[in-house]
Parts: sequence; C-alpha cells; structure tokens
Amino acid sequence: MKKIIAFILVFFATTSCTSSNNEVEIVYSPSKNIEVSFQLLKDGTPTYSINFNGENIIKTSKLGFDFKRLSSIKDNFKIVDVQKNSFNETWEMPWGEAKEVVNNYNEIIVTLQNSDIDISKFNIHFKVYDDGVGFRYEFPQQNNIDSLIVLDENTQFSLTGNHTCWWIPGDWDIYEHLYNKTRFAKIDALAKANHDNLAQTYIPENAVNTPITMRTSNGTHLSFHEANLTNYPGMTLKIDKENLLMSSELVGSKRFGYKAKVKLPFNTPWRTIQIAKKATELIDSKLIVNLNEPNKLGDVSWFKPTKYMGIWWEMHLSKSQWSYSTNGKPHGLHGATTENAKAFIDFASQNGIGGLLVEGWNTGWENWIGFDDREGVFDFVTPYPDYNLKEVVQYGKEKSVEIIMHHETSAAPRTYEQQLDTAFALMKRLGISAVKTGYVGKIIPKGEFHHGQWMVNHYRKVIETAAKYDVAVNAHEPIKATGIRRTYPNAISREGLRGQEFNAWSSDGGNPPNHLPTVAFTRMLAGPIDFTPGVFNIKLKPYKPNNQVNTTLAQQLALYVVIYSPIQMACDLIENYKNQPAFQFINDVGVDWDKTITLNGEVGEFVTIARKEKNKENWFVGSITNEISRDAEIDFGFLDSGLKYNATIYQDGKNAHWNDNPTDIEISKMIIDRNSKIDFHLASGGGLAISLIAAE
Ligand code: NOJ
Ligand code: CA
Repeated sequence: MKKIIAFILVFFATTSCTSSNNEVEIVYSPSKNIEVSFQLLKDGTPTYSINFNGENIIKTSKLGFDFKRLSSIKDNFKIVDVQKNSFNETWEMPWGEAKEVVNNYNEIIVTLQNSDIDISKFNIHFKVYDDGVGFRYEFPQQNNIDSLIVLDENTQFSLTGNHTCWWIPGDWDIYEHLYNKTRFAKIDALAKANHDNLAQTYIPENAVNTPITMRTSNGTHLSFHEANLTNYPGMTLKIDKENLLMSSELVGSKRFGYKAKVKLPFNTPWRTIQIAKKATELIDSKLIVNLNEPNKLGDVSWFKPTKYMGIWWEMHLSKSQWSYSTNGKPHGLHGATTENAKAFIDFASQNGIGGLLVEGWNTGWENWIGFDDREGVFDFVTPYPDYNLKEVVQYGKEKSVEIIMHHETSAAPRTYEQQLDTAFALMKRLGISAVKTGYVGKIIPKGEFHHGQWMVNHYRKVIETAAKYDVAVNAHEPIKATGIRRTYPNAISREGLRGQEFNAWSSDGGNPPNHLPTVAFTRMLAGPIDFTPGVFNIKLKPYKPNNQVNTTLAQQLALYVVIYSPIQMACDLIENYKNQPAFQFINDVGVDWDKTITLNGEVGEFVTIARKEKNKENWFVGSITNEISRDAEIDFGFLDSGLKYNATIYQDGKNAHWNDNPTDIEISKMIIDRNSKIDFHLASGGGLAISLIAAE
C-alpha cells in the first residue's frame, strides 16, 4: 500500500564544528518564505526565532529541560556539530484528504555540549517547510545514563504581538470545550475550569491545549501543535500574558510525580508551528503528517473508508438506553437489539451506507458512569441477551453493511488491556474491521490523566494491537491527533472535540453556530474528526425539547465535505431520513479523496472546501458559516477541464435561519463546468452542499 511515487533526496552540506558561543545558524524553507535562526545566548542558552516573509513571528525563545536527579538543560552550551540537509518526496496516503502528499523541507541538526552536566550532549533538530516549522529534542545514549525522568520541558514560544487567538483550556483530561476567541493577553483558561457537561476535566493552570490558532495584526496565521506524540505526555502551553510568551507545560502523572520517564536514546515529539498568509492555507498544510514516520503497517486495504449509521443518537436523545436492565430487571428501553440493528442495516443498505455502529451491545453499561470502581465492569465479548451479535453481523454481510464494534472502556484502561487480544480476535473472526473506543470518566488508576504519558502509551498499545488483528480504531475521549495516522493508518479517526453529542444534552445550549467554522481551523489541523454530522430533525422533537442543533439542515450536509474523516456518520434516526430529498446528498457524497482545495474561509466565520472523490471524476463542495449570513461566490475553476458536471445544489432556503427556520432548504440542479462562477446565499448558521457528478 505504501507506494512512494517520487523520491528525491539531496544532501547538500555540511558538518561544521565550532566551539564559539553566540553563533547563529540559519535555515530557510525550500521557497525561503520561512527562516529559522538557532542561536546560543552569551551564557550558552539555546534559543530559536522565526521570520516569515521578512516579518518576525517568533522572537528569541529559550529551549531547556528540568530532570529528576540530573542537572537541568539550561545554559553553558557550545555548538559542537551542525548538519544541514534537504529532503523532497511525495508519498501516498492509503486514504485521506488527498492521495499524494508532498514532503519537502530543509533541516538542521545542531548538537550542543556542556561537559559539566549529566546530559552533556543533545541535539535540537529543526525541519523547515514552506507551511511551517517542526523541531524536537534528541537525546543520545551517554554517560551511563539509561533513562530520564522529565520534570519539565521548558520550550518557549515568544510571540511578537497580542494576537487574536482561538483556544480551548489546557485540560489534562478532555478536549471537549468550546473555542474562545480572545486576544492573547485575555486568555483565561481557569475561568473554564468547572464544566457541568463533562465526566472528567482537570485544568490546573492558565494554559491552552493545542492546536491553538492565532492571527497577527498583519493577517499572518499561526497554529501551534505537536507531531508524532509517542511515549511522552501531551503538551499544553502555559500562558504568560504580560510577556506574550507561551511555554510548554507537559501533562503530568500525579501517581508518579513527574511528567515523563523515557529510556535513552529518546526523541521528543515535534513542536510544530504552522504558518500561513491566509487562514485557508492552514487547512491545506500537511506539516503534521509529514513530521511522522512512514506507514509501518504495509497493506491496509482490509479497511475501506465508509459512511455509517448507528444505534447511537437514539441513546443521546434518551429515546433508548445503552443498558439492558435496572437492578437486574430488563427495563425494555435497550437500544442495541437484534431487531433494531436489522432495521438499521436494511435502511443503510438501501441508501449506500456501508457501516453500522452498535453501542450498548455488551454487558457492563449498568455500571458505566458515576461509578468509582469501574475496573472489571465492561466485557468486550459478551452481548446482552436481546442482541445476537453473530446473527446481526451475518445479516449485515448479506446486505453489504459492516458492523462497527464499540468498546466503551469507561476510562479503565487496565481492564481494557487485559481483554484487548480476546476482543480484537473476536472481531477478526467475525470479519469486523473497525472499532469505536471510548474513555468516559476519570482515569483509573487515580492520578493519571487522559493526556499523560501513561495514557499516550495506552492509546498507542490499542492501535498497535488492533493492527495485528486488521482492526481500525476511531477513539473517543482520545489523545489528540498528532499525525500518527501516517505511521499507523489504522488510527482512522477520533473525537477529541465537542462533537455533535453536545447538541443532544449539554446544559449550555449546545455547540453555537461559530463552533465548526472554528474547529476547521483549529482541531481539524491535527487530523480526522469523528464529528458525527447529519442531524435532520434539528429541533430534536419530541425527545429533547430543551436542546437543539444550532445549524441549518444545509449546514449538516455541508459538514460531510468540510469536516474530514474516512468514516463519516449519518447520525440521525431512520425515521428522520425517510422521504427526505436532502438525504440524497449523504447517499452521494464521497468519503475518500484524491484532492482537497480550501476555497475560502476565515477562522470562526466561514469556510468552503472542495474535494475530489478518489478514483472518480466527482467533486463535492461544502461551505459553512457562523451566525452571520453571507454570500459565497464559488469559482469552479478547480474542476477538471473538458468535463461538464451534473450539479445538485443543497442550499439554505430564503427564510432559513439556524434557530428560526433551520430545515428550510432549496434543492436545485444545473450543469456546471470550470468556467462557472456562482453566488450562493448562506443563512445565519447555514451552509451549502454541492455534488458535482461528471456527466458521461
Ligand atoms: C462518549 C462518546 O463520545 C459517545 O459517542 C458515546 O456514545 C458515549 N461516550 C458512550 O460510549
Ligand atoms: Ca465524547
């Protein structure tokens, strides 16, 4: 599967040795728009700074570490070696936003030495791309030190102004927060610390989670994140409002009292800064996946990108329940029954949908939430008595609908790890190739957090074990996406944001109309999102009179294009899709892409994305707006020349409005080609979805 279609490696220079301080080493991106300078201060403190098109965007920022029992990495260093290389390849994704990814960078590896301290030698490695910068620390084996206990990583990002920021708090347990838009000096994560809607949250200080996206007064866009988070805690960024400075604050372990313990040799994850002239270029950036290792799994054609339905939304609406009984007695509201699953399979099969997620199929749900002792509660192989797993899987096979397995771990990872092999072996026997996992609740053992090193290693163990059984993983309450999908393509998708579910039950009014136009430029830069779009019954009647989805119906359709995931849910109930002409879009839309083009957009306001379906001539366009209604002019110049397309346009009706009239939708057809330029109107909280099917 991993076919490298072009591979050029140019080694152009040099190894220079020096013992002088104060020296500056400069490396440019291939087109020279980005310039990174590495410099030792007079006292030998390692620092870096970054310019973009001549504008200074990161001021001199220090690099360092504090360890347990070993002296800190701080100052008194000398540069003892510098290596510079260039690299250019094009690699192929087995599935993704695009088939081919260009990976073109210049790199510099600076070796620093301070013979007076324990860690006397380490490298700082920068890779400079046209769309941003990644750097990491590399610790070789040395001085009989075989492991490091990291108390703090002290990586600074010194900003050049009080930028406009889109941020969520630096929560050690969950990313399911609304984005805030404030100036940097107004970031106040602690104000968000109590949250009624979360079964877990821990925000210890004024820090943000990544990606955090910013706009400078010149209109330059920056997004700070990390790539290849392996055997290390997730990084939050501590906010120093006065000095306009962010510093790495790793998620810790209260159980062990440190941030990380690693064996040498060790490389940290890449600290990343995506840099763009325009917001849209952030979405097109491939920095995060490029900074990961190539595919380790080889042929992964056992997984196919798919749309899926679920015995799922009905539980979030409280129409049915995950559990089978109360106090040992069946309550009659169990959702995952054989009969219900078959009804979904019938509908999916008639409507071009290849998957069905079934939640609440296995024993343990009676003791799911709010219980402290959740170890040993869930069982990942035993179905409830009213759900015949084998029969449902077989019925699905006959109708070309594959069951998607569900493993809610209830944040008891030790219980899950004990059962991993058995659970995945069952899936393999049944021919099920994808599982949705979940980690609701506080992590057991106490003192560990979802985003700490111990859990990062757990999530990776699940991916690696799943791969052995040809199983792909869609994790909820996950660790953030850091481009691992390049190395392990079976890490297909994840949640890691406030998903659609909040619209069903949150006590704060659900996700506001600006949520997804913000997510597209923040969370989505990290990787695929299982957002679960497709609610047609926007007002959730009769189940949830006090909740609703805060978008128009047309926006729900647009999300199939705007939000990328190789598994894309049609989440609503069967009865809400029946006899709905708009459902045709969900039936038609692709899930795997040859090309993606972000046509226009501004963070938190609007975004329009066009994607070309893999191995087909069809294109799909999605556009969404926040609460401001607006006209989007779409120039179809991206379409392939010489072709005409039968376009079906799903747009907000004249009176559409996310709150007042969300289901007002106009569906029209026309012929479109690359010379077409058309103005479309988007309602407040609205959207636009277009399918462009190449005419014969
Ligand atoms: C939270 C997940 O995000 C949701 O999709 C799932 O239904 C519940 N946990 C139960 O596992
Ligand atoms: Ca969730």
